Amino acid sequence: MDPVRNPFAPGAGTPPPELAGRDELRERVRIAIDRIRLGRPAKSVLMVGLRGVGKTVLLDQMCDDAKATGIQAIRLEAPEGRSLPAMLAPQLRVALLQMSRVEKAKELAERGLRALAGFARALKVKFGDIEVGLDLEPEAGLADNGDLEQDLPALLEAAGEAAKEADTAAVLFVDELQYVPEEQLAVLIAALHRCAQRRVPITMVGAGLPQLRGLTGRAKSYAERLFDFPEVGPLGAADARRAIVKPILDEEAAIEDPAVDRIIAETRGYPYFLQEWGKHAWEAAKHSPITLTDVEAASRAAVAALDGSFFRVRFDRLTPFEKRYLRAMADLGPGPHRSGNIADRLGRKVTALAPTRNQLIAKGMIWSPAHGDTAFTVPLFDEFLKRSMPGDDWRQ
Ligand SMILES: Nc1ncnc2c1ncn2[C@@H]1O[C@H](COP(=O)(O)OP(=O)(O)OP(=O)(O)O)[C@@H](O)[C@H]1O
Ligand SMILES: [Mg+2]
Repeated sequence: MDPVRNPFAPGAGTPPPELAGRDELRERVRIAIDRIRLGRPAKSVLMVGLRGVGKTVLLDQMCDDAKATGIQAIRLEAPEGRSLPAMLAPQLRVALLQMSRVEKAKELAERGLRALAGFARALKVKFGDIEVGLDLEPEAGLADNGDLEQDLPALLEAAGEAAKEADTAAVLFVDELQYVPEEQLAVLIAALHRCAQRRVPITMVGAGLPQLRGLTGRAKSYAERLFDFPEVGPLGAADARRAIVKPILDEEAAIEDPAVDRIIAETRGYPYFLQEWGKHAWEAAKHSPITLTDVEAASRAAVAALDGSFFRVRFDRLTPFEKRYLRAMADLGPGPHRSGNIADRLGRKVTALAPTRNQLIAKGMIWSPAHGDTAFTVPLFDEFLKRSMPGDDWRQ
């Protein structure tokens, strides 16, 4: 069928043609933000889920939803290996500049910009990666101690006060939150906690890998009083069907039921895979409606596409021994697996493998659903590893 009209959109952070199955979560976040805007208490959400389940596109959608109602949205992505202040400062500056254009909030937004100037200048020694334009001179004593634990709460509070004066709320939408170093995450949570106690309308909506839940709990035990941790997972059958059928109907084409059933079975409802299968099924079909035979042909192409992109980009970031560790896990099946069993497969001691395991957790490849358990963060990664590392060589 016409490739120009192909509606499907596999890709990291690429908005899907139909954002299926996430309405409830969107509504929950909308309510929380609106409550915070009114100075009412509300738990915000940190969404957790495996790779490719649609956390980024959902966060983007929530960010757009918020902006549409006049919320001061601040969209951030925690980069691997950079500091929280470095990530936060430039975006917070943009938000404060925007608020400073609202007449009644001008004064407090400018105070926020002075706080930011003090913050950036004082913390530059500790966090050399802070790069931010300074619009106003710092105000002595305002967020300028050079200690993140004192300065971040002061800065966020100043931003929140400006938002309040502008009759809105400031909301940080932060993706890949698991990459924020634990001690910095602890400070961020504490700062948001203080703002919440003072009813200052600033909050965070976050997304990250499943280890985020444990990470925040360790960072601050009261994190669970501030946030819920809804899971973003594969789509149920009805939503997965909708994700495939609706975009096709919107293009005035059709797909037969057995074809859809096969796509759902092959993808297990994982959003990234649904997009990949949808795209290749469309390509395989000569004309509408798309049939089961088309999907069978598409499956080979979809697997090859995933192997070359979604799985490959993750695989290429691994050291040879990390690959072997994961291959040993794959040998045991989809998981989760006990550390002892993985070690047995490699003929090593659990303690000797601990650094590798920690490294893989830091890279976001695996996580620990329970003490001593290890699971993949990438759906169907076990099958990929068996395809790309066949045979027994990895055991040596
Ligand atoms: N609700 C949905 N319905 C249909 N397709 C979706 C849905 N959510 C996401 N997708 C598609 O899934 C793919 C992955 O989405 P996204 O990049 O947001 O995942 P992610 O969870 O952020 O992954 P990662 O952990 O790798 O960053 C995209 O191609 C997107 O279009
Ligand atoms: Mg993402």
